[in-house]
Amino acid sequence: MNNESFTTVWDLMSGAASAMDLLVQGRPMHHEQAAYLAYTIAEEMGLNDNLKRLAMYSAVFHNVDAVCVDPEVEKNGKGGLYEIGTSLFMDVPETRNIGLVVRMMNGNHQAEDLARKRGLSDVAAVVLIAVNASLSINPNKPVLNQVATIVKQVHQVYTGEVSNAVLEAFDRVAEREFVWMDMLFHPQNLHKSVGNIRGLSIAETMTLTKIMAQLIDYKSSYTAMHSAGVAATAYAIAELLGMSDTECMKMAIAGNLHDLGKLKIDNSILDKPGRLTKDEYNTVREHAYYTYAIMSQIRGFEEITEWASFHHEQLNGNGYPFHLSEKDLCLGARIMAVADVFAAVAEVRPYREGMGRNQALDVLLDDVDRGILSEQIVDVLKKNYETVNGYRDKWCRDAGKKYYDAVHRGVENE
Ligand SMILES: [Fe+2]
Ligand SMILES: [Fe+2]
Repeated sequence: MNNESFTTVWDLMSGAASAMDLLVQGRPMHHEQAAYLAYTIAEEMGLNDNLKRLAMYSAVFHNVDAVCVDPEVEKNGKGGLYEIGTSLFMDVPETRNIGLVVRMMNGNHQAEDLARKRGLSDVAAVVLIAVNASLSINPNKPVLNQVATIVKQVHQVYTGEVSNAVLEAFDRVAEREFVWMDMLFHPQNLHKSVGNIRGLSIAETMTLTKIMAQLIDYKSSYTAMHSAGVAATAYAIAELLGMSDTECMKMAIAGNLHDLGKLKIDNSILDKPGRLTKDEYNTVREHAYYTYAIMSQIRGFEEITEWASFHHEQLNGNGYPFHLSEKDLCLGARIMAVADVFAAVAEVRPYREGMGRNQALDVLLDDVDRGILSEQIVDVLKKNYETVNGYRDKWCRDAGKKYYDAVHRGVENE
């Protein structure tokens, strides 16, 4: 990592793969495995660096359209496809090809034509085979005994569907025992052959984490703007406290990712009108831990991880999941806790309308009285309510418009 780098693409992709794993029950490391194998096949084919990376990124995000399963979307779904996840990637020039490859893999014909024109068909084929092979491994049996069956099965499914060059490269890769062992036991070994790839500036990191924030939020229409609201509130408070530009951006990144662990929570719980049962509430409480577990793997995110993951901790020590207390909770974590409550109460939820100024401040001040939230931070918010709420409102409006467009746009045309 050079000095200007905030983190690396590799770090962020590994984190994203772990986050995508939260979506799939019973297949730990599936996205890392698929990324590992896709990159390895692409390399064996002699694809250029850009295409090799694209294969890896597309494998990491191949399930991105499975994130948003909102019933509204289902009604409007075009041909059963929910293309909201990929639309987020298509909207950003640097990530457009990821969206295209994933859509092609999912059988979107428009995407297939475009991908073909751009010379990306083989990349989609590589990722499809990598995903299929990863899913075919039975982790409870010796993997080397399964290779012949997996190779045969891949040929049955893809012969005639993808170019021979892809299948031949897969065959050659499949002969190497260590590839299968790496996939099962340590797909992060890919890092050794890929290296750090390249550093990411804080602005680039912000762009990518915004996509992740939208994915988290779009899981449910009721939380469709939550991370944006938290990020905006945290950013505004940090600015009012005189924190540096870099620190304000880091607060926004932490806000974007604070609920990353919610990818694991089923929509029947996220969208439930009314009170959660004790078991459901326990499931919800897991999310802060998963946010921590994933973000703490990312180099450069050390501070951001604390700011993001401690948002349900309380100054009185009664929060979760670490039961930290006043002495452990730094300024960033205190800001995030206030931002989370404020953004949440200001939003419409299945069981209530969004709260206005007085009602929202009552909730926050009550939390101060109960020793949950920082008096200093709530005071900054109270004194600058219009400014902070202005930021929150604007970022939420932008996120809401994007969500509405994504739901109603259907299949994308360039
Ligand atoms: Fe949370
Ligand atoms: Fe939250």
